[in-house]
Amino acid sequence: MGSSCARPTRLVAFGLLLGWLAGASGSLAGELRHEPVLPVPTCTAMDGEKVQLGKRLYHDVRLSANNSISCATCHPLDGWGMDGIPRSTRVDGDINTLNTPTVFNALFNIGQFWNGRVTSLEEQIEETVRVEMGSNWNDVLRKVAQDDAYRQSFARVYRGGVQAVNIRDAIAEFERSLITPNSRFDRYLRGDDQAITPREKQGYELFKKLGCVSCHQGVNLGGNLYHRTGVFNRLESGAPPAGTKEPEPDRMAVTGDPEDARVYKVPSLRNVTRTAPYFHHGDVETLEDAVMLMARGQLGRSISVPERDLLVGFLGTLEGILYGECR
Ligand code: HEC
Ligand code: HEC
Repeated sequence: MGSSCARPTRLVAFGLLLGWLAGASGSLAGELRHEPVLPVPTCTAMDGEKVQLGKRLYHDVRLSANNSISCATCHPLDGWGMDGIPRSTRVDGDINTLNTPTVFNALFNIGQFWNGRVTSLEEQIEETVRVEMGSNWNDVLRKVAQDDAYRQSFARVYRGGVQAVNIRDAIAEFERSLITPNSRFDRYLRGDDQAITPREKQGYELFKKLGCVSCHQGVNLGGNLYHRTGVFNRLESGAPPAGTKEPEPDRMAVTGDPEDARVYKVPSLRNVTRTAPYFHHGDVETLEDAVMLMARGQLGRSISVPERDLLVGFLGTLEGILYGECR
């Protein structure tokens, strides 16, 4: 796998962090099963007032150049955190090169964006307001500071009041509340044998046996390493979409290493039944097709339709409960 995978030390450190998170969440039904997949914590430590402030900013179109779009336009929360279209349109009318990932469980990823060019949610917001939303931080600050309710909330939550760094902090805190715990599979991991059906369990065993789990593992079944797409066979989405203006923003754009061409963060499979279309260009419409292409492209195997359906059945058990924050 060479340099296309995350460095082992980093993975180990991350694994420990995830182990701690999983442990910290408290086990509901006894011991955690020894599996390469970890449950989403049922609860994260949050600052409630910050979360509410961040939630309002997340839905506020004044963060964009012409007050036309908010984070929620492309990442609607009632749409499982993404817009359900292949590629979204920015404020300036340009169409994005890449499919919009979900914001749910994004906090568990080693890096943000398909190529992981930033590591924190705060840095991610810094770029998005400029690039997707065509604005700048002076304008955002001015608009937010003009609003009495915002001024009062910021004064209560932050010593420095309305500042760009605090706006990013509040939105990031809200995003950290966007987890989807208690999926049926997580309940199974926590010891509840009845949470998944025997067929779904068979699907999980196949997922491990085929080797899907070598890339899709950890809390997000993905999000913790980078890998080349189309290792054995090019995926359907190999060619950049027609009309693409920018170079493909792959991992090579971050590391400068030619070995990282066509390398992306392995996407999370949490709630994947709800986040079509698939792959970095969003050009694969069904989960059935995505799974077939994965077996062929990443593992060099043709799987049968019954095998495909077993895998899809297992993936359905990863659907969690939206807004799992402590209340
Ligand atoms: C015009 C659509 C659009 C808007 C508006 C938008 N995003 Fe995104 N978002 C995207 C796209 C497209 C990507 C993937 C870009 C890439 O990987 O290069 C993305 C990536 C992300 C990611 C990374 C997720 C991951 O798994 O890598 C997060 C987190 C995120 N956006 C949060 C936000 C927040 C918070 C806002 C508001 C401040 C916002 N987005 C506004 C389209 C949008
Ligand atoms: C060698 C690493 C690797 C293996 C093995 C692997 N995947 Fe993937 N998977 C990826 C990468 C990388 C992507 C992103 C591909 C892209 O966007 O072009 C991905 C994407 C996906 C997606 C689409 C997710 C989305 O939101 O777009 C699904 C579904 C998926 N994989 C399921 C599977 C299944 C099922 C298997 C086993 C049959 C499997 N994967 C094996 C690395 C892997």
